[in-house]
Amino acid sequence: MAPSIRSDERDPDEGAPPAVTRQDYRNAMARLGAAVTIVTTDGPGGRHGFTASAVCSVTDSPPTLLVCLNRGSSASAAIHANGVLCVNTLGGGHEHLSNLFGGRTPPAERFAAGEWKVSATGAPMLLDAVAAFDCRIVRSVEVGTHDVLFCEVVGLAQGGAREGLIYFSRRYHAVVGEPDA
Ligand SMILES: Cc1cc2nc3c(=O)[nH]c(=O)nc-3n(C[C@H](O)[C@H](O)[C@H](O)COP(=O)(O)O)c2cc1C
Repeated sequence: MAPSIRSDERDPDEGAPPAVTRQDYRNAMARLGAAVTIVTTDGPGGRHGFTASAVCSVTDSPPTLLVCLNRGSSASAAIHANGVLCVNTLGGGHEHLSNLFGGRTPPAERFAAGEWKVSATGAPMLLDAVAAFDCRIVRSVEVGTHDVLFCEVVGLAQGGAREGLIYFSRRYHAVVGEPDA
């Protein structure tokens, strides 16, 4: 299990009405388009996975990305227990997978859709992912309702899909690129 750090930053105005409400923040974030991924895990904590758009690169030396994980989600315990995950980037036509892994369905039903192989870390890797990042979790930081997981990328797979999948304005949008760009 990766070391967990609790953010000690506190709002100096705690108690005062928030300058930005949760709903205003959510509405503004809906305008920030993001790639849609399915984050998977397997190991002693069991197989699980969830849809995530809060994924971004931290650095390429060592190759590291971060994933924001809601601590209240059903996948949280398994991800922490296993210490590994695979970020599977979705393409156009994968909306059904995003909805399945973003809903309240049990893990076995989630993995019944799509074709998966076992990655080097043991996490499920989607065969037709646009790109897949196989990771070891090296650090976890608690911020509010979420854990920010810092993940060292130990394996990669790149598919030939022409379309990526973006979530923008609470809708999916397929974006077209070159196959191996
Ligand atoms: C497009 C989309 C993006 C999401 N991004 C995230 C994310 O970055 N982090 C997260 O914790 N949950 C995210 N979610 C929500 C989780 O996928 C969802 O809460 C979880 O899979 C369902 O929780 P449950 O397994 O407890 O039912 C997203 C959902 C959707 C549909």
